[in-house]
Amino acid sequence: MAAPVGGRGAANAPKLKPMDTSMRTLSYFCFVSAALYALIGMAMGIFMAASHDHTLSPAHAHLNLLGWVSMGIFGLFYQAAPGAASRRIAKYHVAFATLSVWLLIPGVAMANLGMNEGLAVIGSLMTIASMALFFFIAISTPRIANA
Ligand code: HEM
Ligand code: HEM
Repeated sequence: MAAPVGGRGAANAPKLKPMDTSMRTLSYFCFVSAALYALIGMAMGIFMAASHDHTLSPAHAHLNLLGWVSMGIFGLFYQAAPGAASRRIAKYHVAFATLSVWLLIPGVAMANLGMNEGLAVIGSLMTIASMALFFFIAISTPRIANA
């Protein structure tokens, strides 16, 4: 029996191969989380400006720079290099980068409020570890097929 033509169009939409989907998922995750961090970071900036209390400025700065800027750059990289995005190490990298935002930003905020600095220390170690993973991925990408 012939496949139905027309209708609402969903059946005729181009289908991604399963491998393509997993590669795109990583950069999509980076873009969506980057936008979410930007929204939270900007809301924090507006709150600081409105209250004239800039105590949490470093937390705001690093949320925007690690969350929005760096995560956005990772998304662009994985979009440009699907071969790299399909490697298991890339998923570890994005997981580490995500965890480091979740740990470093509250850690920096706590440190600025004069509370315990332990979370900032753990967060900064996670941040540098995730960048080391990205460094390894970046230098090894030209050598893999379909980069
Ligand atoms: C709605 C958007 C934003 C508002 C209202 C806002 C507001 C602010 C305010 C009030 C400060 C404190 C300034 C001071 O203490 O001198 C600040 C600092 C800062 N913001 Fe934003 N911000 C916004 C978005 C962003 C974005 C998107 C980024 C980065 C991509 C960013 C990066 C920074 C940095 C790096 C600092 C620290 C600057 C320094 O210490 O000299 N901000 N922001
Ligand atoms: C391991 C990760 C990082 C640690 C532990 C760290 C730590 C710090 C510290 C202690 C300051 C001084 C804050 C103050 O004066 O109160 C600072 C400032 C700054 N950092 Fe970072 N940083 C990290 C990553 C980054 C990254 C990845 C970026 C940019 C993409 C960045 C951009 C800045 C900027 C623009 C400032 C000046 C704004 C400010 O004083 O808030 N940092 N950082």
